Amino acid sequence: PKIDGPKKVLVIGASTGFGLATRITSAFGAGAATLGVFFERPAAGTRTASAGWYNTVEFEKEAHKAGLWSRSINGDAFSHEVKQLTIDMIKADLGTVDLVIYSIASGVRFHPDTKEKFTSCLKPIGNDVYTNKTVDFHSKEIKNISISPATEKEISDTVAIMGGEDWTLWIDALEKNGVLAPGAMTVAYSYIGPEITRAIYREGTIGRAKDDLEKTGIILDERMKKNDGRAFVSVNKALVTQASSAIPVVLLYTALLYKVMREKGIHEGCIEQMYRMMSDRLYSTDRKLDEKGRIRVDDWELRPDVQKAVEDQWEGLNTENLSDRSDIDLVRTEFFRLFGFDVAGIDYEADINTEIEIPGLIAQPQA
Ligand code: NAI
Repeated sequence: PKIDGPKKVLVIGASTGFGLATRITSAFGAGAATLGVFFERPAAGTRTASAGWYNTVEFEKEAHKAGLWSRSINGDAFSHEVKQLTIDMIKADLGTVDLVIYSIASGVRFHPDTKEKFTSCLKPIGNDVYTNKTVDFHSKEIKNISISPATEKEISDTVAIMGGEDWTLWIDALEKNGVLAPGAMTVAYSYIGPEITRAIYREGTIGRAKDDLEKTGIILDERMKKNDGRAFVSVNKALVTQASSAIPVVLLYTALLYKVMREKGIHEGCIEQMYRMMSDRLYSTDRKLDEKGRIRVDDWELRPDVQKAVEDQWEGLNTENLSDRSDIDLVRTEFFRLFGFDVAGIDYEADINTEIEIPGLIAQPQA
């Protein structure tokens, strides 16, 4: 069913994963005009473009076919320049936006004023080396991985990239330039996850960044309310994306989770998650916020029966029983499909043109 949702949406981090899914849901679920910002590499010579580039080519084609306004900006969202380009585009064509999605996942950030370079890491915090099972999904081998705790600098760098500072800078810039519609909302994405991944995720460096993002959400909510708007963090479910597949232990947990949730008939991909986030939460009269004011679409992942089943499988999990106990093949396929591989009916030997322009691309500053 169509969502009685947003009309003009800015998606920051719009080319892959949850951001792309939110863009698709806004456009094709709610009929919204969408402006997508992302950082992708165009094709050059024999080198293909990055996956999000081609995702956007297809998105733009379908949006235009459906008569939906859509434009894209390729560049560093952390920079002042890309924020300004975005504002100029909104002023020129949309006037204002009524929803701003913040869905950046990055390993590096240059501060827009000081030019300091931050590099994020996925490490535990504390004094102890963390050891747990992880999977090499190329060989489908389970191994133990040990990760040393993060330094203070690694923690603060990860917070600088994945915390709330840049989200605030975006809202500052949009507000100052008068391009937020009265009643406009903004949403950023977070993750909590299970006990199994707690030390490496929620209590690790990335978890610190998510704490900061969630605190920012509360501050922004107070600000947005002054203009009848709202700011929320939506806690989403673990899914295979470029960002999440880099996190040790989490991918193995995800392979177990997929199987349990599929067997229970409650598995969702990014699009189903974002459709539910909008239709059943953000644009519903009952947003079912948790005690910290967060939107929760990880509710099915964290259901006690789901978690109990995953924990039972985790215990004694090894290379031999991995395929029986998990959806490792599906997770592997989903990973390859993020880059266009493993799709039935495609002749991967055929000659193709890799240099495809994104229709509606506004700017492409030097990478
Ligand atoms: P992703 O890797 O699929 O997407 C990241 C997006 O950010 C891409 O569009 C990329 O182009 C863009 N981007 C990265 N650096 C940029 C820059 N400097 N300037 C402009 N755009 C830039 O990641 P995913 O997984 O969709 O993550 C999005 C958010 O969702 C993150 O906050 C992540 O923590 C959160 N999340 C992810 C979960 C998962 O299991 N994948 C679960 C719950 C939350």
